[in-house]
Amino acid sequence: MKLRYVFFCLLVLPHLHAQNPRFLKDVLSFPLGASVNPRMLDENMTYRERAGSEFNSITAENHMKMVNVHPAADRFDFDKGDEIVRFAQNRKMRVHGHTLVWHNQVPTWMKDFQGDTKAWEDMLKLHIQTVAAHYQGKVAGWDVVNESFLDDGTLRPSIWADHIPDYIAKSFQWAHEADPKAILFYNDYGQDGKPKKMEAILNMVQDFKRRNIPIHGLGLQMHISVQSSNAAIEEVVRKSAATGLKIHFSELDIAVNPKNNPDFVYDDAAKDEQLSKYLCVFKAFQEVPVAQQYGITTWNIGDGDSWLRGYFKRPKEYPLLFDEAYRPKSVYRILLQSLKKI
Ligand code: G3I
Repeated sequence: MKLRYVFFCLLVLPHLHAQNPRFLKDVLSFPLGASVNPRMLDENMTYRERAGSEFNSITAENHMKMVNVHPAADRFDFDKGDEIVRFAQNRKMRVHGHTLVWHNQVPTWMKDFQGDTKAWEDMLKLHIQTVAAHYQGKVAGWDVVNESFLDDGTLRPSIWADHIPDYIAKSFQWAHEADPKAILFYNDYGQDGKPKKMEAILNMVQDFKRRNIPIHGLGLQMHISVQSSNAAIEEVVRKSAATGLKIHFSELDIAVNPKNNPDFVYDDAAKDEQLSKYLCVFKAFQEVPVAQQYGITTWNIGDGDSWLRGYFKRPKEYPLLFDEAYRPKSVYRILLQSLKKI
């Protein structure tokens, strides 16, 4: 009897588990991540449980950004970011750092900063290196610079572009000096259907390679919708992967009601459209050479947590894999079944 039990545990159980995996993360050859919000991790036990069980990578949705970690020139505040890191470490999850340099969520003192080029450089370098050093050994990678290009491929005007020549390259160098082991990403949105933006990013990568600027990855945010073109998505993934850099779908969500129609109903037809887009995205990622697959991260966990509802004020939006009560949606269940066969 005992022997039979041992046999069952050793040989049959793992097989059964492999055939009927419970979690999407278990059928993927790459990490599945989510961005999280520390308040939700504290207050909502279902959210906390889902974050810990469904994902093996975590990104702070807001709490490693300049406005939160560097609220005053002489003060850094890592409390909330550290909370997220502890949550991940206790569960052996990867942490992805987001983001060292952005034109948005910049503290007022930085916007008001006065000084010559050298003073601006010193200020940004101190920011990058203090944050990167604080999280050294705790984060696997960083979105070093976020969203520097406009859709037409020109450099986005920002306090950084205005005051620091070549600020993107310098930011990567400073981050690398502070944390030489971190995988350093350039992260942006909307490359699909915006060929000029994509071209600008690829040119930047070539230029950085020529100049030995340490860039190791491209983040494709993937804030897309059911109307996004599959062909355009596949093309940007192919072009990005051709750089040889690691690829991260870093902020995935798939909007079903992009025009914010107040009468929108998330019916079976809408769910089917969303499912086929999710399949397209996951399959496009699986085409990336395995050594370059950094992972797919969804932008938060449940539909109710999505920035599209909060920040963008689109109450009838359902872009994620879990519903408001953190139940896996049908799109999650079908993805799990479809992808395990590949
Ligand atoms: O924390 C304050 C709170 O104290 C205050 O009471 C409340 C009142 O509005 O605001 C809270 O801050 C908000 C924060 O989200 C946390 O909820 C900010 O106003 C709001 O601007 C902020 O929005 C974030 C947005 O970036 C800012 O541009 C979203 O949560 C976040 O999902 C979003 O994430 C970005 C990525 O970092 C980069 N790519 C695009 C993506 C979506 O915009």
